[in-house]
Amino acid sequence: MRVETLCGFQFVNLDAAAAPIGECFPEVAAGLREYLPHLDRLQPVEWVTAEERCNWKVSVENYSECYHCGVAHPSFTRGVIDPRRYDIRADGRCLRHTTTAVDRAAMSYAIDASDSEHAADYSSWFLWPAFSFQVYPGGMLNTYHWRPLAVDRTEVVRGWYAPAARATKRWRRWPSWTAPPPSPKM
Ligand SMILES: [Fe+2]
Repeated sequence: MRVETLCGFQFVNLDAAAAPIGECFPEVAAGLREYLPHLDRLQPVEWVTAEERCNWKVSVENYSECYHCGVAHPSFTRGVIDPRRYDIRADGRCLRHTTTAVDRAAMSYAIDASDSEHAADYSSWFLWPAFSFQVYPGGMLNTYHWRPLAVDRTEVVRGWYAPAARATKRWRRWPSWTAPPPSPKM
């Protein structure tokens, strides 16, 4: 069994002959650090698990488009990101999602766009086959991990990481896809 580290996260690989993760996904480390210059100072906030009654490949396929986001995740497309700019393209084995934050007046939580170059952007890096890094506007990181349980059951584990000032469950819930935020502004 091999354990490798990418941007502070450990990845286990059962294939001793596999190429190193940095070779499989050469753009990810630099891209993540470009979007999260404070990556090494992020603090873990919460892990959330959800079971989906489908094969893991169906869940991954669903994740690989965002046409459904407006219907299934309205708090995301109305209060976090601009769905009109949502773009997905392949970059080697990585599937890259990018867009910008929604208009500041509509955002469900306050961000400081001057924090860093991409503080008002969203981007994710899906690492085939079953993991994704997602950077939310405001410099929050979400990890998305598909765990196959059975042919028709998948557990999705999402980890949230935030700058120290926002490393609370209260902040974490604001960019949530599943619950509309209560009262947005600081
Ligand atoms: Fe979805």
